[in-house]
Amino acid sequence: MQTFIKKVTDESVFEAVNILNNGGVVGMPTETVYGLAAVGTDSEAVKRIYEVKGRPSDNPLIAHVHKDYDLEKLVFVEQDYVYKLIKEFMPGPLTLVMKSKGVVCKEAVCGGSTLAVRMPSHEGCQKLLRAIDKPLVAPSANLSKHTSPVTAEHVYNDLNGKIPLILDGGKCTGGIESTVLDVTGKVPRILRAGLVTREMIIELVGNCEIAEHKEGDKVKSPGVKYTHYKPNCKTIMFSEEQLDLAKKCYEESIKSGETPYFMCSDRVKNLLNDGVNVLNLGKSAEEMAANLYDKLLEGEKKADIIIAISLPDEKGVNMGIMNRMRKSCG
Ligand code: TXA
Ligand code: MG
Repeated sequence: MQTFIKKVTDESVFEAVNILNNGGVVGMPTETVYGLAAVGTDSEAVKRIYEVKGRPSDNPLIAHVHKDYDLEKLVFVEQDYVYKLIKEFMPGPLTLVMKSKGVVCKEAVCGGSTLAVRMPSHEGCQKLLRAIDKPLVAPSANLSKHTSPVTAEHVYNDLNGKIPLILDGGKCTGGIESTVLDVTGKVPRILRAGLVTREMIIELVGNCEIAEHKEGDKVKSPGVKYTHYKPNCKTIMFSEEQLDLAKKCYEESIKSGETPYFMCSDRVKNLLNDGVNVLNLGKSAEEMAANLYDKLLEGEKKADIIIAISLPDEKGVNMGIMNRMRKSCG
């Protein structure tokens, strides 16, 4: 199969809708990362997603809808605070897990009773969702375990030959996947940290827990138990306190004939020697989130080893960044 990349236009969206309505899968942009979409009510199409990605069949998918779509067609809203979250953060990088009404097929929720729903804010994605007017289930458009894609080219590098079309909506501005929030209980619970932070949720609804995923736990969000986001090169992570050790690691790597790259914030970059190889994540947390996967994917092309320096804390957006850094470089 030949894979075409096409800019989001009326014509390419029309073509995507046709492919999707005929049981196919397409790459689509969102503001977080690129998704691999199929019609959520089509079991065969949804199975294709798992095949194409090589995704474990017990890891459920998120249903994406346009901004005028009535979420209550798909899920039961059981808690009043959910309406506040919808009003404040949708469309945007927030995914809500609620009791499913069974409209989206069981293959997409892996037989579970809940469904994750999200309303992307990306204009090109909204255009597609509006044109098809059906929920599109979509995981990130990478091969299972690999780093998530933030450009159409990244999607192409992983899925070339396996899907007919990638809609190109430019580089994702968010850069890390949506916050996944379990809102079935009295207190919302973060299953996956993202750009909608715990602090923001607490400010709006007064409380927010963080799901702890310990060894031996019955995992609530299956995705978190798998290794994830791995670039195709060696990786290692140090804290800022271990910077001298990280520098030694860099020197050792050079001595053994390799090409090492540091990956760190702009601030830490200034603590490194001039002339060393650096994948600079940038200054603010939002900037670092937006650059993280792009830098990991740049790194796997250039480096034999990425030496990541962790962030000093896990406040706000840093929590989502650190969660990915640990999985990709830990
Ligand atoms: O930003 C995003 O969320 C991107 C874009 C494409 O929308 N999508 C994405 O999908 O990251 P994926 O499949 O790579 O990650 C979905 C996460 C997984 O950790 C999965 O376990 C969790 O959401 N999830 C999905 N449905 C769930 C459910 N019913 N209950 C608990 N967790 C769920
Ligand atoms: Mg993913």
